[in-house]
Amino acid sequence: MTDRVLLITGASRGLGAATARLAAESGYVLALLARREESVAPLVTELGTDRALAVRADIGDWAAISAAVDRVLERFGRLDAVFANAGMSLDVSFFGNGGADPGQWQDMVRTNVLGPALTARATLPALAQTKGHLVITGSVAGRYPRKGNLYSATKWAVTGMAAGIREEAVGTGVRVTVIQPGITDTEILNAEQRTKPKMAPEDVARAVLYALGQPPGVDVNEIMLRPTGQVM
Ligand SMILES: NC(=O)c1ccc[n+]([C@@H]2O[C@H](COP(=O)([O-])OP(=O)(O)OC[C@H]3O[C@@H](n4cnc5c(N)ncnc54)[C@H](OP(=O)(O)O)[C@@H]3O)[C@@H](O)[C@H]2O)c1
Repeated sequence: MTDRVLLITGASRGLGAATARLAAESGYVLALLARREESVAPLVTELGTDRALAVRADIGDWAAISAAVDRVLERFGRLDAVFANAGMSLDVSFFGNGGADPGQWQDMVRTNVLGPALTARATLPALAQTKGHLVITGSVAGRYPRKGNLYSATKWAVTGMAAGIREEAVGTGVRVTVIQPGITDTEILNAEQRTKPKMAPEDVARAVLYALGQPPGVDVNEIMLRPTGQVM
């Protein structure tokens, strides 16, 4: 049987790297994307250069993400699954009570909203050929409003985007899953979040592999998982 190919954005650390390791154990060949090839190179060495490829791409840049996908297709010839996972977080106050300067807000909207949109656009034609699977990382913050939180708004956009793509995918055999994690122990957390109950990145990786492991007739629309005791 041909090895299934999984492309992961945000593969250099956190949820993306944990999912890459678990997917490799399940037999996937991996295309690992981050903004710098060097940041994913150690993971490629760990997984084996015959089983994994490091590709540089800023997901908010159409030319970069489409060229990266072309490179993956050149190397592996197919795409069976995509984990559109890369994202970032800034603390924001709409009243100006601290938080990031509004001049920085654009980066987060670009990365968290335009990023998965462009990743979807770049990969769905190839996924349609394999009746493949698009998994997008949202957040619990994309289901429950959070005080003064632009990050939450970007993740509400992801929830809507996944649903919209799923509607467009009807008849193609392509499945779309949005993973909505609660607080997970990665570099993205702020100091306050670090004091709260946290999941491990591997806990989220198992949810991704669960969705990917279902038979073709089952489209897991959404998985929300939170650390036990996380308060909304
Ligand atoms: N950890 C949590 O509690 C939590 C909860 C809910 C949702 N999430 C979501 O989970 C996803 C992964 O986050 P994480 O927790 O694993 O955080 P992380 O450890 O900070 O990892 C973020 C990843 O995104 C990549 N990235 C950031 N901006 C990028 C860009 N413009 N282009 C390409 N890659 C970019 C980073 O790669 P480089 O910097 O190496 O390029 C890195 O690999 C994000 O979408 C985040 O919003 C996390």
